[in-house]
Amino acid sequence: MATSEARAQIGVTGLAVMGSNIARNFARHGYTVALHNRSIGKTDALLEAHGGEGDFVRTETVEEFVAALEKPRRVLIMVKAGDATDAVIEELADAMEPGDIIIDGGNALYTDTIRREAAMAARGLNFVGAGISGGEEGALNGPAIMPGGPKESYESLGPMLESIAAQVDGTPCCTHIGPDGSGHFVKMVHNGIEYADMQLIGEAYNLFRDALGFDAKQIADVFTQWNTGELESYLVEITAEVLNQVDAKTGKPLVDVIVDAAEQKGTGRWTVKSALDLGIPVTGIAEAVFARALSGSRTQRAAAKGLASGVLGEKPTDVAEFTEAIRQALYASKIVAYAQGFDQIAAGSAEYNWDLHPGDLATIWRGGCIIRARFLNRIKEAYEADPALPSLILAPYFREAIEKAIDSWRRVVVVATQLGIPVPAFASSLSYYDGLRAERLPAALTQGQRDFFGAHTYERIDAEGKYHTLWSGDRSEVPA
Ligand code: 6PG
Repeated sequence: MATSEARAQIGVTGLAVMGSNIARNFARHGYTVALHNRSIGKTDALLEAHGGEGDFVRTETVEEFVAALEKPRRVLIMVKAGDATDAVIEELADAMEPGDIIIDGGNALYTDTIRREAAMAARGLNFVGAGISGGEEGALNGPAIMPGGPKESYESLGPMLESIAAQVDGTPCCTHIGPDGSGHFVKMVHNGIEYADMQLIGEAYNLFRDALGFDAKQIADVFTQWNTGELESYLVEITAEVLNQVDAKTGKPLVDVIVDAAEQKGTGRWTVKSALDLGIPVTGIAEAVFARALSGSRTQRAAAKGLASGVLGEKPTDVAEFTEAIRQALYASKIVAYAQGFDQIAAGSAEYNWDLHPGDLATIWRGGCIIRARFLNRIKEAYEADPALPSLILAPYFREAIEKAIDSWRRVVVVATQLGIPVPAFASSLSYYDGLRAERLPAALTQGQRDFFGAHTYERIDAEGKYHTLWSGDRSEVPA
């Protein structure tokens, strides 16, 4: 361990669990890692527990930390997103030199990253907003990494990030995403899809519990089984683990003693806000965010207990058949969630001129990250076959999968509705699909109403241009 020479290839500041694990991951891959934390206690705790895993440089002050790095210096910030990140960036920027690279590995809001990148560029520094997914375990053993920022900085940084990332079929789950905030934008949408996927899994769980009367262990067995097929994914795998967990205090399944109010740190909400601005219907993600909000409205929910359900339908009797129907509904709705997420990425790319490649994202999401899943290989193939795919749903593989699932999907939504079981994401995904494929939507009426009360004009199906009806006059039509 040394403190004076500038010999570390990477510095990590912010040594909570994610930062510590990433630092260890770098060290285990043979890099010399300079360590820094606001309070030295965390640095020493890391060195004491894991100092033998590789070559670390202990530093106390920012100046010492920066001086320990070889040039161009590379510093990875792993602190809480928001003001804490700005404070660390400012301190580092003062101590660093033109050409050095600052990487923000937190869950930053992409518009903050755009602002920070511009501010650092004005000082000659390269700023890389890098989405990192995979939680604590991924950080240590191989996360998915989504670095944005200047292409030039990726030349020196990329090989390091690629070496610590998860690898699938020999391909690292890390690639240069695009300029400025694109890495964090893509990570944000990743999290939005994560929310949708979790909500869909939750709805499936709810149906097993309330429509089929399964206990947690029985439901865990179904998810374990599903994880051997086309639904194979990290989230399905951990669902079985969570459902199998028994509470030591009560002997009940842990899931039955956890309060049913979901929390959120904000990335799902950001995804929906951004989708609203871009005009992209991410209905699955939005329902997931709202379902968490509803679950958290504990006062209202307590007051609403006992509200009438109306006459409820019969529970399904063919357990095997309904289990398979739920699986199909989950798969089809999941395809919709991904299709919507990829639509948002395409829209973000166009809005900010990022030139993002959806196939690359599908490739790097195959491993390391929370939404890793077998079917990402299919998404990768779909975009390889047609990079300009208008919707993922239209790729032959997914189109067939949905056509196979559609009857079951409808049945699940109908049965859930008849039983009074909420399935907001299953239902809204199905409605989205029906809306997308509809020959004619009620939007024609909306346009007529808008023209009536606000002279907002409309287009005709049989002529070019815009038109207005003189609603408060003789109701003749005039070109607008
Ligand atoms: C990941 C996760 C990670 C974090 C979520 C949790 O990709 O590793 O998405 O970023 O666990 O932000 O989000 P919520 O607290 O909003 O559920």
